[in-house]
Amino acid sequence: MKVLVVGSGGREHALLWKAAQSPLVDRLYAAPGNAGMAPLAELVPWNGDVEALADWALGEGIDLTLVGPEAPLVEGIADAFQKRGLLIFGPTQKAAMIEGSKAFAKGLMERYGIPTARYRVFQDPILALEYLEEVGVPIVIKDSGLAAGKGVTVAFDLHTAKQAVSNLLSGPEGGEVVMEEYLEGEEATVLALTDGETILPLLPSQDHKRLLDGDQGPMTGGMGAVAPYPMDAAILRRVEEEILKPLIQGLRAEGVVYRGVVYAGLMLTREGPKVLEFNARFGDPEAQALLPLLQSDLVELALRVAEGRLKGAELSW
Ligand code: AMP
Ligand code: GLY
Repeated sequence: MKVLVVGSGGREHALLWKAAQSPLVDRLYAAPGNAGMAPLAELVPWNGDVEALADWALGEGIDLTLVGPEAPLVEGIADAFQKRGLLIFGPTQKAAMIEGSKAFAKGLMERYGIPTARYRVFQDPILALEYLEEVGVPIVIKDSGLAAGKGVTVAFDLHTAKQAVSNLLSGPEGGEVVMEEYLEGEEATVLALTDGETILPLLPSQDHKRLLDGDQGPMTGGMGAVAPYPMDAAILRRVEEEILKPLIQGLRAEGVVYRGVVYAGLMLTREGPKVLEFNARFGDPEAQALLPLLQSDLVELALRVAEGRLKGAELSW
């Protein structure tokens, strides 16, 4: 098989490294890839245009494509490939909305009773600041759209909170913020493969998001990750039953079949696991910690996901 990995970071390098071990693979490609991936794959120059990449893949006879980052998913890369009859591991544009719009994700969680922080969505800075005065701190302020993991402010004083709201809403083209209840607990990530029907959770992992030692400093896209995170089996079952199943079934009830990997960023609170965010892809850097532990063939699994044949699949670690 000819397999293409889309992206250029550490996560995509981990995906390639794992794919290279599959007996199903004859040739690997990375678009755009990076210099470190060159020993594993042919690097394909790519400017981010999803339709152009799908045309290239069709011409080259790519059998399966694995998508690393969120931006092309939100752009509709899966739709572009599927339209040409190409197999792709990654959700469609509609399904990727669970990451592309935090306001959409929160609404979905509300509709299907998925535990998460209480929240309000604002576009008007005046209303947002009024609400802030009313509820006070601590509060969490999030850019509703994609922000590479840097769109969140956890504010413990009103000044910081107001500044975050102004920064997000005062630009010329406006914006949308989600303001939500501050949750306390330990954070963990649960990723799961799904073909829209079967849900296969991977080992839990833990990301470390703040820039400085001792959880000081601003949020980043991720400073490093640990896997496996020793999550209690009962908690993991709750994550499956209360979070992953209602998410995938809820999307399906709304006509959206989610195929790919789904990322649940969780706060393990006293009342149980609650969702901080959903992502439509592998975590970066969680993938780098997790994929080396996986014994099963990633390419075979990705094929089964893309073809809707995940039922009966098992993972070994
Ligand atoms: P997100 O991009 O939504 O995962 O948020 C980035 C980080 O902000 C998370 O990994 C948490 O550390 C923190 N965070 C997000 N939402 C909350 C919340 N409701 N309560 C406490 N911390 C949060
Ligand atoms: N490591 C956080 C993320 O991938 O969103």
